[in-house]
Amino acid sequence: MDTKTIESFRNLRTPFYYYDMNLLDTTLRAASAAAARHGYELHYALKANPNPRVVRAVAARGIGADCVSGNEIRRAIRCGVPPRQIVYAGVGKTDREIAIALREDILCFNCESLPELRVIGSVARRTGRVARVALRVNPNVDAHTHRYITTGTEENKFGFPVADLPEAIAACRETPNVRLVGLHFHVGSQITDLAPFRDLCDRVNELQQSLGTTSLPYVNVGGGLGIDYREPDTHPLPDFEAYFDTFATRLRLHPGQRLHFELGRSLVGQCGTLVARALYVKEGAAKNFAIIDAGMNDLLRPALYQAVHPIENLTSAEPPRPYDVVGPVCESADRFAADVLLPAVRRGDLIAIRACGAYGESMASRYNLRPLVRTRFSDDPPRHASEAARQ
Ligand code: LLP
Repeated sequence: MDTKTIESFRNLRTPFYYYDMNLLDTTLRAASAAAARHGYELHYALKANPNPRVVRAVAARGIGADCVSGNEIRRAIRCGVPPRQIVYAGVGKTDREIAIALREDILCFNCESLPELRVIGSVARRTGRVARVALRVNPNVDAHTHRYITTGTEENKFGFPVADLPEAIAACRETPNVRLVGLHFHVGSQITDLAPFRDLCDRVNELQQSLGTTSLPYVNVGGGLGIDYREPDTHPLPDFEAYFDTFATRLRLHPGQRLHFELGRSLVGQCGTLVARALYVKEGAAKNFAIIDAGMNDLLRPALYQAVHPIENLTSAEPPRPYDVVGPVCESADRFAADVLLPAVRRGDLIAIRACGAYGESMASRYNLRPLVRTRFSDDPPRHASEAARQ
């Protein structure tokens, strides 16, 4: 981070998420260009970061949305995503949310079970609409990622088991006001080795062959492309080319079929940094603790998935010392790193936790009645010191 940016943080109240809007746009352009080369359709998974400024930047690049709630659908539309570029997944869609999606005439429901299909059909009938539906298939591909973010194995709650598909397809065809348009898959998240995506292609090919899905125009292979959490400055952009090439070389689409993707983390992960202040440095019996004013309620990933985010001391050039970087929340899991080497930390230093653009702000809570974390954007107008102090 450049000195001017760090200077601009000095008088701001912490903690806050800082978004590098140039990097976001560069990433969006790279992903769009790589997808366009193959004629692929992109949908941004809002769950990664539904901040309106982020979603508007996504919409401005012509990227659609992948939503998982009625509120996400509304947010996407309000931020400029055309409803016909919105897809809607989730195992627990409520009747109200289904009605919102129908009223907005979104592109497609990614349907996860027979009971859900029946409810979609009945809400559509009641409201005089036709629901375009894709069946979410659980392809039983192990993404070899953290078990909490693996979604495509038979033990997960998501989608139809392959064996139930013929019955589900028949049910779609028999349900009035439902039009079956395609198949949907998603195997997991933070996948950095392309092998699970190759496995997914093989499963899709087998399925399409066995089911005779020639008439279904929509194939959606979900998201999951990972980012480099260890060296965000070396790899600020994921390798979108290699990712899409994997599908281009391995997946056999029928004529007239369009391939859709739902990328979340890979589009927004690297543009976000959580900026906090050191409150206290505490010399424990076995450890040095750098206690900062951000907690697990602001960034849950380290506590929930043992995720490792690079941490930097932005305002010290002292020789490095080892610290456990911890927050103020009353839980031992409220720890961002163990034994990390940082330039000696003093009270008031600005501490940056990097690569937090995805599943950072979106998973924040008010645990311990802490205020909901603030945000700051690289293209915000500069603030005067007096104004910053008042915020
Ligand atoms: N499509 C579906 C159906 C999904 O469930 C997800 C993510 C995505 C797309 C986007 O996946 P991405 O491209 O972002 O990997 N909170 C966890 C990640 C949970 C992912 C949930 N589903 C984390 O912080 O790592």
